[in-house]
Amino acid sequence: MNKNQLYKGKNKKIGILGGTFNPVHNGHIHMAKCAMEKLGLDRVVFMAAGIPPHKMLAFNTSPEDRINMLKLAIRGNDQFFIDDFEAGSAEKAYSYISLERIHESLNESSALYFIIGADSLMQLDKWKRPEKLLSLCTFAVIPRDGYTKVQCEEKIDELTKEYGGEILYLDCEKYNMSSTVARDYDYDETSSNLDENVAEYIRLNGLYSNHYDTEEIEKYLKANLSKKRLEHVYGTVKCAGDLAKAYGANIQKAKLAALLHDCAKHMSNEEILFLSQEYGFEIDEIYQLQPELLHGAAGAYISKNVFSVDDQEILDAISYHTVPRLEMSKLDKIICVADLLEETREYPGIDKLRKLQDKGLDILFEKVLERVIIHVVERNQLLHTNSVVVYNNLLKEKRKSDKLKQTQGEE
Ligand SMILES: [Fe+2]
Ligand SMILES: [Fe+2]
Repeated sequence: MNKNQLYKGKNKKIGILGGTFNPVHNGHIHMAKCAMEKLGLDRVVFMAAGIPPHKMLAFNTSPEDRINMLKLAIRGNDQFFIDDFEAGSAEKAYSYISLERIHESLNESSALYFIIGADSLMQLDKWKRPEKLLSLCTFAVIPRDGYTKVQCEEKIDELTKEYGGEILYLDCEKYNMSSTVARDYDYDETSSNLDENVAEYIRLNGLYSNHYDTEEIEKYLKANLSKKRLEHVYGTVKCAGDLAKAYGANIQKAKLAALLHDCAKHMSNEEILFLSQEYGFEIDEIYQLQPELLHGAAGAYISKNVFSVDDQEILDAISYHTVPRLEMSKLDKIICVADLLEETREYPGIDKLRKLQDKGLDILFEKVLERVIIHVVERNQLLHTNSVVVYNNLLKEKRKSDKLKQTQGEE
């Protein structure tokens, strides 16, 4: 159905199920079906919420992935639809604002039902503008474990007395499943609580594959990094996610490595040297003289020991974003490139570099490394020999392959 048609039509009974759907699970589908049956709805619209900036969703799932999973979960049901109007928005997703938007295209003969769980009912007076919400729609409450019917009815009574409007308790089967639980599944196993296509999508796209909650990391970063540095970090997360998608790397790993890449940036030289040594990094003379080059290795130490990141691929990408190693992995290169090209960066020539993205990750990495080397030389800083070795190696490889192409052309 066309987006503009979602709420159109005369005498329609339309159910709305809001949420981040991270991921959508059978509990959501149960709620939609139950409301449909009990209220005789014509359709249910799954309204995916937007996420404010700097309030990253658990596991940084992109709006696109959330919508794709929704599409898979409702496939084949011609009464279920998706409203993705706010999904990609960075605005705070207040329900009353969404409902006001919906009302603009709603025929006055139609009725809106906002479907919520009993847990949300108990919190409804904490939502923004409850009186407005209750004037724009009827609430339909689905039972949930932990809340008896009597408790719900008492709360409904209290709310409607205070704010007016109508709240219906739907007598249907309880279903207990939350997205938090859904994210903890081992997606290689078939889960009865997720649509099998959704589970497959999660597995193929590597979603929720790292079991680290970014909230704790963000708290640490906010407490320790400057506003400007924090903006750079979020820019790097976004850019790394885009690059991972474009070059077929694990998006979640790339975003996590990007989130952590500068987590040691606030430390003193002494601390950085100490932590890098603890991490097992070999500290040569150049590192001794220019310890900030080690904020990658120190960051890997913090990631491992404070945030329990045990994925070596992620730790390496954090570690080698300052000075590259000879065998740079795809993830290593992505973090280096994202660090230099993310949206808040500004320096001469950056636009030209950004345009190279369709030339492939190797060329992009080579040019970014070239830029870093020039930058270091210009600032009269010590250039680490590893950077030179890696750069020379890239050139040697390129010459070799050019020569090979030339010979093949001659044959
Ligand atoms: Fe850095
Ligand atoms: Fe950085």
